[in-house]
Amino acid sequence: MDVSKKYKGVTRYVYKDKEYTLEDGLAAKVAKGGSGIWGTMPMPANFPAVSEADIKELVKFILNLAK
Ligand code: HEM
Repeated sequence: MDVSKKYKGVTRYVYKDKEYTLEDGLAAKVAKGGSGIWGTMPMPANFPAVSEADIKELVKFILNLAK
């Protein structure tokens, strides 16, 4: 819910110095991991344990929680 609220109204997302649409950028972050947005604790890579299609679906689900 906090993630969904944070990105309400946001359309672009920068991941590793590259700009993406919000959904694509968050999907890349979830797939490959990263840190620095919520604190210093990194999220580990979730791909290939979770498929690209499932990651996209999960990101959409999360972003829709606060709508
Ligand atoms: C498929 C499973 C997962 C999904 C869909 C998911 C989704 C997300 C999303 C959407 C964010 C926000 C990213 C941002 O604002 O830049 C996030 C951040 C984060 N996640 Fe995950 N996550 C998953 C698995 C995990 C796991 C397994 C861990 C830890 C063991 C984890 C730890 C974190 C941490 C620490 C952050 C904050 C990263 C930062 O500050 O930039 N996540 N996650």
